[in-house]
Amino acid sequence: MNLDEIRKERRKWLKWKNIAPIFEALQTLRPTDAKVTLGDIIKIEGEYEDPKQIESIAKMMKPWRKGPFEIFGTFIDSEWRSYLKYNLLRPYFNLENKRVADIGCNNGYYMFRFLEDKPKKLVGFDPSILFKLQFEFMNFFIKSEITYELLGVEHAEFYEEKFDTIFCLGVLYHRSDPIVMLKQLYRALDKEGEVFLDTFYIEGDEPVALCPGASYSKIPNIHFVPTISALRNWCERAGFSEFVVLETSVTTQEEQRKTDWIDGESLGNFLDPHDSSKTVEGYPSPRRVYVKLVKKQKKKGKHG
Ligand SMILES: C[S@@+](CC[C@H](N)C(=O)[O-])C[C@H]1O[C@@H](n2cnc3c(N)ncnc32)[C@H](O)[C@@H]1O
Repeated sequence: MNLDEIRKERRKWLKWKNIAPIFEALQTLRPTDAKVTLGDIIKIEGEYEDPKQIESIAKMMKPWRKGPFEIFGTFIDSEWRSYLKYNLLRPYFNLENKRVADIGCNNGYYMFRFLEDKPKKLVGFDPSILFKLQFEFMNFFIKSEITYELLGVEHAEFYEEKFDTIFCLGVLYHRSDPIVMLKQLYRALDKEGEVFLDTFYIEGDEPVALCPGASYSKIPNIHFVPTISALRNWCERAGFSEFVVLETSVTTQEEQRKTDWIDGESLGNFLDPHDSSKTVEGYPSPRRVYVKLVKKQKKKGKHG
């Protein structure tokens, strides 16, 4: 697969009529030495000669799904409080000196947080030009060496380098062939490596999956919602030698809610108003499972 051809094609997305004005506005940002704090709120502070310009560019880039960020006095109260997921996973990884990918990285919120571990390399994959521009807006002041690729999980195995650790959070249920996606992650790892993944799941002991109709929790492109035992089977089929359940959680409005930084609805509108254990479609309401998958070098057979 020729990734450079795909990169070249996708750079043309900057000319889309909803994107070009944002891209042009980003060219007018003025460099400054800012104080950067990569905590639960990613903060960029200091003197910026035109803070109103910052606010207006940030607003052009709605919806802000992941965050929050505070940039020269503008608080971007994103739909998701992404630090809840980050803090839940934090005890389970150490990225020091590792080659790390975040696949489905959105605007890079988690990648900015990963910098605290001093990874050797940090690459984000996400085919959304809007989220890439949100990343570039922040990174203009953060000045990290993170690489953001406008590529998807389907490209990761062809990437110029392999990874020691891959995060792939909130992507699996969007894929119509989840086992293929897990194999793509497996092949994007070096000979040994680990994946941190989360997905919606349903309760139950049987290795089965819910196949929603037109939408699940009003999200249109959800293909399969497995039990944990079905997920384990998928991961085994993809070749992973270890499958460890780290955490499970129920998404609440503490984590995902309507704010001024998204247009339209959020979790509060996605659940049955009379029974929050069900989605508006009548399915079990969203629960997430967080797993760690390990790839080990295969032992050589008798014939070498
Ligand atoms: C539900 S969001 C999850 C974001 C973030 N990883 C998290 O867990 O908070 C799904 C993300 O996957 C991205 N995405 C869409 N298609 C993708 C693909 N083919 N490969 C990788 N990511 C994709 C979307 O742009 C979006 O940022």
